[in-house]
Amino acid sequence: MELIDGKKISAEIKEEIAIEVSKLKADGGKTPHLAAILVGHDGGSETYVAHKVKACEQVGFNSTLVRFEDDVTQEELLAKVEELNNNDDIDGFIVQLPIPAHINEQKVIEAISPEKDVDGFHPANVGRMVIGLPAFISATPAGIVDLLERYNIEISGKNVVVVGRSNIVGRPMSVLLSQKGRDATVTVCHSRTKDLEAVVSKADIIIAAIGVPEFVTAKMVKEGAIVIDVGTTRVKSDLTKSGWKLKGDVKFDEVSPKCSYITPVPGGVGPMTIVSLLKNTLLAAKKSVY
Ligand code: GUN
Repeated sequence: MELIDGKKISAEIKEEIAIEVSKLKADGGKTPHLAAILVGHDGGSETYVAHKVKACEQVGFNSTLVRFEDDVTQEELLAKVEELNNNDDIDGFIVQLPIPAHINEQKVIEAISPEKDVDGFHPANVGRMVIGLPAFISATPAGIVDLLERYNIEISGKNVVVVGRSNIVGRPMSVLLSQKGRDATVTVCHSRTKDLEAVVSKADIIIAAIGVPEFVTAKMVKEGAIVIDVGTTRVKSDLTKSGWKLKGDVKFDEVSPKCSYITPVPGGVGPMTIVSLLKNTLLAAKKSVY
């Protein structure tokens, strides 16, 4: 069993981005600039956004954090989105999700200009990805593709089972891996899948993105399978300084001995997600997608 080290690969990619940014600046180009809108004080969102801001510093990007309280109105939030759409210094921006229930999340996503939608959540980017046009691709699936490629893991002709069909991970993951050039045979499982264990246990590659801690157990995993764990459920812990720890969707202790490769949580997919956001921001700054 080999551990897929997302921390190491993400550090390598950040180094590559930093070198490219230095060259851009040396050539008189613009410093890439990412903005993030954070609504409220959800612990998980605070942590993710802090990591994104820090990652920008590490690669030489500018970053701007825009904060609103939980009681922000939809109109106020949409006005800020419009302002960022029209601010030429901002190359790309994200609205950290989830946002409070009184705001229509889809309306906010669709208000972001597709040219600045570095999360790849806007239907224009999702649609372009599906038909193979240049697009901003959702960060987690893009990061998983990078991990598989950097470990030279063969995808072509493999049976991939994606567990979970979210708009952010499962659905785009299934599209990317079945695209021409990657050529996997992809099955998407979800809450209505009949005999999920029988389906998952045939997979050469399992992408666990269901958001249920330790959902994938050893009996669902074929000997020699590759297991990618997207789960990041925060659970209380006395053992960490923050009082929280992340739990993956895979029962790591019993599954890992059966795998040829597996991602740990933390340190697997998570760090790659942030790197993908940086890559998208660099593409936006270079106007390489649109
Ligand atoms: N919440 C959890 N993951 C993400 C993400 O990738 N982007 C945004 N904007 N919010 C999130």
